[in-house]
Amino acid sequence: MSRILITSALPYVNGIPHLGHMVGCLLPSDVYARYQRMLGNEVLYICGTDEHGTPSEVGAAKENLPVEDYCTKYHNRHKDVYHKFNLSFDFFGRTSTPQNEEIVNHIFAQLDKNGFIEEKIIKQVFSIDDNRFLPDRYITGTCPHCGYDKARGDQCENCTRVLEPTELINPRSTISGSTNLEVRETKHLFLNLPKLESELAEWVKTKEPYWPDVAYSIAQKWLKEGLQERCITRDLKWGFPVPRAGYEDKVFYVWFDAPIGYIGISKQWADEKPQERDWKSWWLDAKDVYYVQFMGKDNVPFHSISFPATLLGTRENWTKVDYLKGMSYLTFEGGKFSKSEHRGIFAEDAIEEFPADYWRYWLMSNAPEASDSSFSFDGFAGVVNKDLNGVLGNFVSRVLKMTASKIGSEVPASGEMTAQEQELITTLQEKVDNYLKYLKDMEFRKALNELRAIWVDGNNYISATEPWTVIKENPDRAAAILRVCINLIRIFAILCAPIMPDTSTAILAKLGRADENISLKEFSVAKEIEALQPGQKFEVGEALFERITPEKVEDLKVKYGSGK
Ligand code: MF3
Ligand code: ZN
Repeated sequence: MSRILITSALPYVNGIPHLGHMVGCLLPSDVYARYQRMLGNEVLYICGTDEHGTPSEVGAAKENLPVEDYCTKYHNRHKDVYHKFNLSFDFFGRTSTPQNEEIVNHIFAQLDKNGFIEEKIIKQVFSIDDNRFLPDRYITGTCPHCGYDKARGDQCENCTRVLEPTELINPRSTISGSTNLEVRETKHLFLNLPKLESELAEWVKTKEPYWPDVAYSIAQKWLKEGLQERCITRDLKWGFPVPRAGYEDKVFYVWFDAPIGYIGISKQWADEKPQERDWKSWWLDAKDVYYVQFMGKDNVPFHSISFPATLLGTRENWTKVDYLKGMSYLTFEGGKFSKSEHRGIFAEDAIEEFPADYWRYWLMSNAPEASDSSFSFDGFAGVVNKDLNGVLGNFVSRVLKMTASKIGSEVPASGEMTAQEQELITTLQEKVDNYLKYLKDMEFRKALNELRAIWVDGNNYISATEPWTVIKENPDRAAAILRVCINLIRIFAILCAPIMPDTSTAILAKLGRADENISLKEFSVAKEIEALQPGQKFEVGEALFERITPEKVEDLKVKYGSGK
């Protein structure tokens, strides 16, 4: 048994999650965590809200709430909706906890002791109309590298380059839109990345055979350009205080404490049950832990460069990322999701419209991996109607109904398997092996193609064997075919569990196996095809999925802003 540590990038607490967030790291990490657990591995799967920084301050001011209450309110909203999407975190915590503060202070002290922290006087943008220093994210302007005109002061989301706000062309305050800005001097603390550069480059090099190309090449691009010192403090109130004289008005930069939050949240998880949970065994001197991180591609530099460098600089043996999955973006009908413009379907609304598995299946089938993908209601309805209803749902109800009406509501006893079934077992085993390999490699679209192909094989088998005709001449043969089909249903339920956990449970419940401890370890079709023994009772029950009608699609388009 291996120990697998899995983290999903910590969503900003002030952002209302939409489908793009769901598929951009949350769902893939959940599918992977479920897959690893079903292999029998020990998994620690951690996520939580990223709470510090100006956006929370600004959001709280808008709602007239103390920033702590504002964060609690939105933390709970994130938590609820992720629960409804069946994300199986071992713990969903927060970055603003005393546990995280303790670890941030410890890591800072280590970096300082080892000579990687420096004080510098810098020039910072002050907004006269807003009467405050503007944090990097709150300055908008044109990217000096690619010309994108909505680049933020910390990063251009078009070309992913990290920026200093003073580099922006035509800068303006994002808070008020004011261009009445001036540059003032103030002192800050910096992480000396250049001092860690060669060590970091060596570490990154060891990842070449393992990291996916996108992640590796982003890291290499950064190293090639040469690392700059990174400012880790900000002129803000909301954040962890900087433990140093003269820094009373400043806090740590949110990007300093957020990734450390993975560790802080693990400690929060452990503190809930101190006797049984040992967070340190996952994070310090943990030789047996394999650490996988999921994130949007704009987050790759922080996870492949600044965070590992931060951990290296402590001279302690913190667990660093072994595999890093960076996802591209999901667009909404070809454009951006936008809460303020009422465009796009947000997670809280989505889950009111359809069950979690409809979304999980569509999103994972269309995961933005090699390139961006686009959500449309037409496409979504097409996939739900065809794959879920037409292929999987139809097979389950057809087989169970036919067996119940022609033979009885239990797995039929008579008849033997023939060469035809042996052939089916061979083809299915091949597809199952591919499916599991793709899940292992986190190639989700390919994995879902295999899963669908497995369901199609089931349909083809029943069409080819025609048990409804055969039963007239040869009831034993028909019984054998239907017994195989019912076992296929159970196989489908097990295989789809990481993607569609509720559907999996619903199918198993029909087969009287609701509490079965299902596993994907060394999955053998030959063995599983005989798992449900003659006499096992089943229930036809309700249909697994409902068709989405064209009228419903039109309603949704109007409701969520894509119907012009
Ligand atoms: N909050 C960031 C975002 O949504 C991600 C932070 S990831 C962390 O883009 F590791 F820093 F927490
Ligand atoms: Zn750019």
